[in-house]
Amino acid sequence: MNEYNAGRGDAGTIPATLIPGDGIGPEIVDAAVKVLDALGSPFAWDVQQGGLAGVAAGGDPLPKATLDSIHRTKLALKGPLTTPVGGGFRSINVRLREEFQLYANLRPAHTLVPGGRFENIDLILVRENLEGLYVAFEHYIPIGDDPQAVAISSGVNTREGSRRIARFAFEHAVKLGRKKVTIVHKANVLKALTGVFLQAAREVAQEYEGRIAFDDRIVDACAMQLVLNPWQFDVIVTTNLFGDILSDLIAGLVGGLGAAPGANIGAAAAIFEAVHGSAPDIAGKGLANPTALLLAAGLMLDHVGRTEAAGRLRGAIDAVLNQDKIRTGDLGGTASTRDFTSAIVGRISGRV
Ligand code: NAI
Ligand code: MG
Repeated sequence: MNEYNAGRGDAGTIPATLIPGDGIGPEIVDAAVKVLDALGSPFAWDVQQGGLAGVAAGGDPLPKATLDSIHRTKLALKGPLTTPVGGGFRSINVRLREEFQLYANLRPAHTLVPGGRFENIDLILVRENLEGLYVAFEHYIPIGDDPQAVAISSGVNTREGSRRIARFAFEHAVKLGRKKVTIVHKANVLKALTGVFLQAAREVAQEYEGRIAFDDRIVDACAMQLVLNPWQFDVIVTTNLFGDILSDLIAGLVGGLGAAPGANIGAAAAIFEAVHGSAPDIAGKGLANPTALLLAAGLMLDHVGRTEAAGRLRGAIDAVLNQDKIRTGDLGGTASTRDFTSAIVGRISGRV
C-alpha cells in the first residue's frame, strides 16, 4: 500500500511497477493514476524510483530495487527520467531495453486535435529495439597524427531478431484489426544488414496471407511518402535506426512529441511511457500536459487485455480536447495539469 494505491477499492489485481520519474514526471504520473482509478484500474502499483531520484537515493539512476520490481511485475508505467550528463551514466532507456530484452518499440500516431497540417492520421510504427546499427560496435582507425581519422561502425541484424519483430508487427495488426503492414528497409544498399531483415519479414508476412496485406518500401522513399500521403500506411515495421527516425517523423504528422506515447515490449516485460522527456523548464508548475502518458497508460491497458477501458480512456481524451476544448498550454489552452486531469476524470465518470 502506498499513496498511489490509496482509496482504490479492490480493482487493482495486476501487479505493476510505477516510476514517477523526474521533472514533470510525478505530476503526469499522478494524473495517469487518477485517470486509471476512474476507469477502475486493474493495476496494483509498486512505486519505485528512477532517474535523479534514484541517484539521490543510492547513486544509481536505475536502482536495483526498481529492476527487481519490474522483474517481478513484468509491467511498468514510467514517467520521464533525467539521464544525468557526465559521470559515466549509461542511458537508462538503453539499460532497460537490454535488461528486459524489450525488442519491440511500439509508437502509434493518431490525430488528437484537428486543424494541424494533416488530418485523420492513424499510424502504428513498430521499431526493432535491440539490434541494427544501435548495437554501436564502433571504433576509430588512426592515420598519421589523427587518432580518429577513420570511424567504423558495424550493425547487427539477426534472422531470429528480424522474424521476432516482424511477427510482433503482424500479430499486433491482427489484434487491432489493421489491414496492412509495410516492411521498411534499405536492402538495395545495405544488402546484408537490412537484406536479412527484409527476407525474414517477408517470410513472416506469408504466414498472414489473406488476413493482413503487406508491402515493402525503401526507407528514403517511405519518408517522402509519409509526408506526401501518410494515409496509405497502416502499420510500419522497420529496423532500429530507421524506426527511431520514422517514429519521430510520424509524431510530427500529429503535432509533435507532446501527445506521443510509446511502449517497449519484450518477452520478459513491457514498459510504457510518454515519448517526451522530463521537461525541467516547466517542472513543478502544474503546466504539464499528461496526454502522452495517459495514452501510454491506454497502451498498457490494451496490453493486459483491458481494451474496453483503453477505448474509454481515448474517448475521454478526445472529448475533453475537442468538445470541452480544455487544453494545456502546449496545445494553446490555459488549463493546468490538474484542470485537464479533472476534466478527463469527469468525462470517464459521466459527470460531464
Ligand atoms: P523534453 O521532452 O523534456 O522537453 C522538450 C520541450 O517540450 C520542453 O520545452 C518541455 O517543456 C516541452 N514538453 C515536454 N513534455 C511536455 C508535456 N508533457 N507538457 C508540456 N510540455 C512538454 O526534452 P529535453 O528538454 O530534451 O529533455 C529533458 C530531460 O528529459 C533530459 O534529461 C533527457 O535525458 C530526459 N529525457 C527522458 C526521456 C525518457 O525518460 N523516456 C525521453 C527524452 C528525454
Ligand atoms: Mg528517438
